[in-house]
Amino acid sequence: MSNVVVVGTQWGDEGKGKVIDLLTPSIDVVVRYQGGANAGHTVVIGEEKTILHLVPSGILHERCLCIIGNGVVLDPKVLIDEIDGLHQQGYLKNPSRLAISRNAHLVLPYHKLIDQLREEAMGASRIGTTGRGIGPAYEDKVARIGIRAGDLIDPDLFRSRIEDVLPFKNRQIEMLGGKPFDSSELLELGAEWSRRLSRHVVDAEGLLHGKIRTGARILFEGAQGTALDVDHGTYPYVTSSNTVAGAACSGAGVGPTMIDDVLGITKAYTTRVGNGPFPTELNDEIGEHLQQRGKEFGATTGRKRRCGWFDAVVVRHAARVNGLTMLAVTKLDVLSGLETIKICTGYRTDNAVVDEFPSSISQFVGVTPVYEQMPGWTDDISSARSEAELPSAAKAYVARIVELTGVPISIISVGSERSAHITLSNPFAK
Ligand code: IMP
Repeated sequence: MSNVVVVGTQWGDEGKGKVIDLLTPSIDVVVRYQGGANAGHTVVIGEEKTILHLVPSGILHERCLCIIGNGVVLDPKVLIDEIDGLHQQGYLKNPSRLAISRNAHLVLPYHKLIDQLREEAMGASRIGTTGRGIGPAYEDKVARIGIRAGDLIDPDLFRSRIEDVLPFKNRQIEMLGGKPFDSSELLELGAEWSRRLSRHVVDAEGLLHGKIRTGARILFEGAQGTALDVDHGTYPYVTSSNTVAGAACSGAGVGPTMIDDVLGITKAYTTRVGNGPFPTELNDEIGEHLQQRGKEFGATTGRKRRCGWFDAVVVRHAARVNGLTMLAVTKLDVLSGLETIKICTGYRTDNAVVDEFPSSISQFVGVTPVYEQMPGWTDDISSARSEAELPSAAKAYVARIVELTGVPISIISVGSERSAHITLSNPFAK
């Protein structure tokens, strides 16, 4: 058995898509287990760039089965557009390679509208969501008024669910100053989505267990990052799902005994989109260097990402709440050309230095990062394919990340291209 959960260790956008893509030749099944079209995984192959929001990154490899698990909230329109885009690029020739759990909840147009209207209404205290309806869809799931992928296949069931739920949603929309939906427009959309997606909607949990029984190697693909987890992140400036490794079990329908390893993806520096605490944020020319060189624009919203130094407090927290057994460090090449590189090892408050991730955002107010300085390097490292080819300052930087987080490194990514990485140990080669 070799089943690995891949999670983000920061505020998302760590480069999970690229790492998953390069691990896929060793994998039989990739299961996405939480989040929705708020995620954007970018994979670059040669001149071609593919951005995936819902379809697991494994889809770019012909033999890999991709499952959208029950823990995902699924926007049918985004998924259909993504499937069409993949077809145009010559992928997904065999449609049975994409399976959707019938228990995955749908993100409907009213969720997106409520998300956007609520953000407007919140003014300065808005979360800075992606506007993709994620929060409202998870709210409905927990309130037991959600509509699931399986409901799409049965037109009578879909109709009765819409008729039951829409009056509540319309009241909420009107309260927020929006225009209510007509059930007929949603039923029409439902019929179209059903036509396009029904062939993919299956008992995904059963399918997955069948694969596990045959000894298949499974990768559980997380979205967003640990600091955006609804319980373990910088609440309320978080997403609405559990992004930690434990969510792979509930979001895919497997037990913890099925998981062998947890691979944390960490960027060599830190980024965040949306509002909320970010102690190591740089609003200077170094922040600009990271933003420009790292092409730090949100893959979903196009927003500029906030950039800052590597924060070991955040990644240590991720190591703990995810039970990380290994790390992949991405975008190390973006640091090339900086004379000095800083690493945050703790936060200074008025009367102490803390090295634990604060449990409340009020404890982030007024903290200043405690930095260690390390020498930078000037060489272009994007063609390095072994650790020995890295400049000694880059090796020392990576070694310090290992010391500070207590997690060994298995992969170092040195460029956006599929081949631009150094593999120290393949988690699936056990
Ligand atoms: P939501 O998930 O759209 O509700 O947004 C909540 C917060 O999570 C906002 O700060 C978003 O910018 C952030 N967020 C959601 N998805 C991602 C992602 O995939 N990468 C980075 N940030 C994200």
